[in-house]
Amino acid sequence: MDTILLFGVLLLGLAMQAEWLEAKPPSQKPARIPSFLKVCHRDSPELNTCARESFEALRPQLMNGIPELYIPPMEPLVVPEVKMDQDSGAIYLHSVYRNVKVTGISTHTVNELRLEPSKLKFIVSLTFPRLHMESEYSIKGKIMMMPLLGDGHCAVDLKNITMQTELIGQEYKENGVNYLKINEVKVQYQLSDVKIHLDNLFNGDKALGERMNQFLNENWKALAEEVRPLMTKALVDILRASVDKLFAAFSYDDLLPKGKA
Ligand SMILES: *[C@@H]1O[C@H](CO)[C@@H](O)[C@H](O)[C@H]1NC(C)=O
Repeated sequence: MDTILLFGVLLLGLAMQAEWLEAKPPSQKPARIPSFLKVCHRDSPELNTCARESFEALRPQLMNGIPELYIPPMEPLVVPEVKMDQDSGAIYLHSVYRNVKVTGISTHTVNELRLEPSKLKFIVSLTFPRLHMESEYSIKGKIMMMPLLGDGHCAVDLKNITMQTELIGQEYKENGVNYLKINEVKVQYQLSDVKIHLDNLFNGDKALGERMNQFLNENWKALAEEVRPLMTKALVDILRASVDKLFAAFSYDDLLPKGKA
């Protein structure tokens, strides 16, 4: 496989730094695949085993980031800004998270890694035993009928997060070379335990702030369901940006060459 493809899929594991989002694919096409990547073949009966081995071998580099593949450092992962806005139905929420730092990504385990070249479909499922996130936040809204207002530092601890990502692509030709365009990026996740702390809620009112934090932690499950559509969209948008660059820069035939070996 190409590990590269894998990486694309894996990236779905999370987000990107600004310079990564802005980096342009090389103007010379197709770009050269870095030599440290073990390439797997599309028609190999051992494709998924190859993909997994290739991924395991590259894991350390992956966690440090691989600029050639538009993959940002993952430990920690720094995202300059995430916005979550919704103004419909039961939710009214406007929130911005700045300088989001996520630690714990490197300790993931791979549950499933499946490449289905015949369907141009690539699936990866990962479990993260623990993730810790910190950021500056600004929230204004109403969640579960409660007004929520604040501006400060926040910390979130998550345990046992399982995340499935699926990419579905389409082939196209450019200058006689086959490329993939990813039409669909699907992300699903399950959470087992969430601890949240928001500093400086309600203009620094300590009593109100403490009550709200307690409320959020007691009701994290319902709360997580309310923000799931927003969260899923944020993850998909972030992943899309890097996946699109990866597949625009490298041809499909280089990423996942034809043949059995
Ligand atoms: C971890 O999450 C998975 C998927 O949601 C679940 O099946 C499993 O029981 C959880 N394990 C623990 C120890 O919570």
